[in-house]
Amino acid sequence: MSSADCHRCPLVDRCVCTRRTFAWLLAKARALGLTTRQQLTARTRAGRVCACCHPYLDAMLATGTTAFQPARPGEPPRPWPPEA
Ligand code: FES
Repeated sequence: MSSADCHRCPLVDRCVCTRRTFAWLLAKARALGLTTRQQLTARTRAGRVCACCHPYLDAMLATGTTAFQPARPGEPPRPWPPEA
């Protein structure tokens, strides 16, 4: 899988490569005071393989959202479920 295929996932709620959910990663980030993806990757390994999850991890840390609509390359992640 490459980052060009990310938009094909039905729902994005985890780092697929490491099987770490964003809910778990957000709790870990908050518990450890981690504020950047780089810090989170260093402590959890999430985001260390294919990099598809990088924009989602950044959005998760910035907003606290833990589920996203699949985004095409270059599009910003949007929360799941879609807002009405
Ligand atoms: S989805 Fe591959 S490193 Fe996170």
